[in-house]
Amino acid sequence: MVREEYWEKVRSAKEGQKLSPEDILFLLSTAEREEEEVLFETADRVRKDCVGDEVHLRGIVEFSNFCAQNCLYCGLRRDNHALVRYRMSLAEIVTAAKNARSQGLGTVVLQSGEDPWFTRERIIELIRSIKEDTDVAITLSVGERSYADYLAWKEAGADRYLLKHETASSTLFRALRPGRELGERLQALRWLRELGYEVGSGNMVGLPGQTDEDLARDIQLFIQYEFDMIGIGPFMVHPQTPLARAASGQLNRTLRVLAITRIITRDTNLPATTAAGVLDQNGRRRAMSAGANVVMPDITPPNYRRHYEIYPGKARVTLDRHALTEMISSLGRRISQGAGARIRSRDR
Ligand code: 5AD
Ligand code: SF4
Repeated sequence: MVREEYWEKVRSAKEGQKLSPEDILFLLSTAEREEEEVLFETADRVRKDCVGDEVHLRGIVEFSNFCAQNCLYCGLRRDNHALVRYRMSLAEIVTAAKNARSQGLGTVVLQSGEDPWFTRERIIELIRSIKEDTDVAITLSVGERSYADYLAWKEAGADRYLLKHETASSTLFRALRPGRELGERLQALRWLRELGYEVGSGNMVGLPGQTDEDLARDIQLFIQYEFDMIGIGPFMVHPQTPLARAASGQLNRTLRVLAITRIITRDTNLPATTAAGVLDQNGRRRAMSAGANVVMPDITPPNYRRHYEIYPGKARVTLDRHALTEMISSLGRRISQGAGARIRSRDR
């Protein structure tokens, strides 16, 4: 059963009318399968109209799993002594990035834990070496750093920055990221925007204690900050963390957040997250049909990849190029050849 009011709200959102926080919450908290279907189909339609059938690929290189932070949810947290730690050498990182280009990936994401060994200068050197002889777009994802670092990296040629806000609930944020504040993270996101980066952010769905109200607040934050890319993934339990006994997030709830975000933000880049693929065999595929238009293949050399265990099972779901092409073409979509920068609808 689809309630009349549900139809109405989805339709007005699709037509671009502003939703109140209560409307977002209403769309989000449905328990009806059929209402969910309406939501997902509408998101798929808006995706097609606003960003088309092209799927953008971003190769991700996880170059260090050292982390100075102690997030309760994450396997890379500093108190996880069971994890084998690694740092790739500059030469290895540059090689991996250049391989991405030769595999036709227009963007490489350089991601790590918050690892102070990678100083401002070392990251500059990385960016310069990669840009020296490839035209690949570089996304950095190395956490909260100083304004001066962000500025120097932009000047060295970095194009984009990925920093998930994780949760818009300041209480939950404080509880899950000891010693850190949501306000500081939002400040970093404003700096990145100011410096001219394309900015990616995102959240986790199903964190212990997280309510639908909190998720509605995440969506409002996406709107307010006008992020170019938004990663929405389920929280996955990691046994070597303090949240070992919690429950993982649910795929459908994650897809509802994704679909509403697509309908409201129209032309953003929304990845089908790896976590969705780990949670459910069809997770990524279903995300692609509920608003997503980006996939981020892991191109970290396998010997390192298996130690980048943010949550279990992550290294196992890597889609090879063939499987990825299959999945995308079976959905009637195609892989984009460009760097996949956000093209705002109003510039089309
Ligand atoms: N489950 C899902 N996502 C997680 N991340 C960290 N730990 C987990 C987890 N247990 C995500 C965070 C972070 C990104 C690098 O990985 O959103 O920003
Ligand atoms: Fe470190 Fe990021 Fe994991 Fe937190 S989520 S422990 S900052 S890698």
